[in-house]
Amino acid sequence: MRHFTSVHDLENLDEALKLAFELKKSPYKYQDLGKNKTLLLVFFNSSLRTRLSTQKAGLNLGMNVIVFDINEGGWKLETELGVIMDGDKPEHIREAVPVIGRYCDIIGVRSFAKFENKEDDYEEKIIQQFVDYSGVPVVSMEAATRHPLQSFADHLTIEEFKTKERPKVVLSWAPHPRALPQAVPNSFVEWIRQTDYELVVTHPEGYELAPEFMGDLKPEYDQMKAFQDADFIYAKNWAAYGEYGQILSKDRSWTVSERQMAVTNNAKFMHCLPVRRNMIVTDEVIDGPNSIVIQEAENRLFSAQAVLKMILDEIK
Ligand code: CP
Repeated sequence: MRHFTSVHDLENLDEALKLAFELKKSPYKYQDLGKNKTLLLVFFNSSLRTRLSTQKAGLNLGMNVIVFDINEGGWKLETELGVIMDGDKPEHIREAVPVIGRYCDIIGVRSFAKFENKEDDYEEKIIQQFVDYSGVPVVSMEAATRHPLQSFADHLTIEEFKTKERPKVVLSWAPHPRALPQAVPNSFVEWIRQTDYELVVTHPEGYELAPEFMGDLKPEYDQMKAFQDADFIYAKNWAAYGEYGQILSKDRSWTVSERQMAVTNNAKFMHCLPVRRNMIVTDEVIDGPNSIVIQEAENRLFSAQAVLKMILDEIK
């Protein structure tokens, strides 16, 4: 594997899972693999888990790690081609990306959807330029339409906690005061569709995800019906895809509470974090015995380490 921007970059999902579990058991087993290799993590947006887990994953593999908050110390970047650069952006991404590529062996990039232009976001205009022009392998640390390191950790977490071969996994929209990208739900649906789990997606009408992620899957608009006998509830907010970037509802009857959890099969509660308490999920549920959000966040380390190990194996 050279780049990691979606589940489709993995050569073998089962092998990738096995590797992540092996690394969870023995995090320092490959501590010489990354010797004299540099991992450079470029953040266009804020992060807690992705920043720390990916950094630690590189360190566990013996890599040197540089973290670059590009908006807080870098030059403001122009991303459009053909523009006369007489405004407030002194550097073009066409030079910045290949230069960054000269200082490292692997680049991690976080660049969220901007909600300014649906086509630009869904063509992955920013991360694609890193893939095209950096000259080194690129790992998505959440791009405009996907968050594959998160989905990989989510899959690991479900595998760890499942009590039956084919659990029912429900992705539920929940309200939020701000417009959030579709990267986490898109990526989760795309990833879980590669497994044989039963997957149900529930949200209010108008919040349909892009067809390329849903495939044949049809949404269930009745949240209580969706939750019936579920083994895992994965809550997340996202803004509308159709009316792109719009907030169509803040209906708090969709907040995951004990009312909905009561009809599940004693389901585990998951969320990628950060989470808005009593908007996305009630205190009772997230603080309850079935909440596995911290274990899920811990697994971010092993999904990142597995991805870096696979790339290091390729470039060594
Ligand atoms: N889940 C996740 O990506 O967390 P951060 O935004 O804190 O990195």
